[in-house]
Amino acid sequence: MADNWEPVVGIVGGSGLYHIDGLTEQVWRPVHSPWGMPSDELLFGRLDGVKCVFLPRHGRGHRLSPTNLNYRANIDALKRAGVTDLLSMSAVGSLREELPPGHFVIVDQFIDRSFAREKSFFGDGVVAHVSMADPVCARLGDALQAAADGIGLPITRRGTYLVMEGPQFSTRAESELYRSWGCSVIGMTNMPEAKLAREAEICYATVAMVTDYDCWHTEHDDVTVDVVTRVLADNAEKARALVRAVVPALAARREVCGAGCDRALDTAIITARSM
Ligand code: ADE
Repeated sequence: MADNWEPVVGIVGGSGLYHIDGLTEQVWRPVHSPWGMPSDELLFGRLDGVKCVFLPRHGRGHRLSPTNLNYRANIDALKRAGVTDLLSMSAVGSLREELPPGHFVIVDQFIDRSFAREKSFFGDGVVAHVSMADPVCARLGDALQAAADGIGLPITRRGTYLVMEGPQFSTRAESELYRSWGCSVIGMTNMPEAKLAREAEICYATVAMVTDYDCWHTEHDDVTVDVVTRVLADNAEKARALVRAVVPALAARREVCGAGCDRALDTAIITARSM
């Protein structure tokens, strides 16, 4: 690793999170990708001196649905912007009583039930199979946990995020099915984001911010956009505080990632180098 190497923290803002606080030297810049158009321009700046890049996942004004996001362009643009560590901030429904609206979860597993999205940078001439056994960078997860503890933000360290295609919310039978699978939260966006981040050798972690109890809980309203938006502003405030707290901790790294996310392709490419 070069002597002048420094981490660059990317933040993908989900529903409700369209800016971050305290960013200095702010500038929105378009980043072009051969994979097409990212959701928006990228916001470059520094938080406590640390280089940061913010991307509103659905675009400013929330114009893009989960199915219509260009996940490959988003991850590629962040990679081109130099991002090494990516924090995915995502609104989710809860599938567990003990994870009420307003609670945050650092998920460590995903079940990908999305089906109408491009999921790989590979396959057209170069075939690669990256490991997704541990889809979340443990180093980022630890840093998020420590930062949340530091600001007194209750957070759950582990959980499984069920990724559904949408755009409609789940039926009650689906919600119960995912609960029976042991899933913790449900959302529409973190796959293929996490898969593509791994292929791009970017360390990735999700902060799942609970907005509702989906539709399985008999004592709570079934999820609607109205129910979700009641909690979004509060969650976004807490998310901004968490980002501010965690970024300085990530800046200390000068070495390769202990979890190996930054070398994911070393063991993944199966296509012959020359024939
Ligand atoms: N995002 C927020 N709440 C959700 C839910 N219940 N299902 C899917 N995505 C969500």
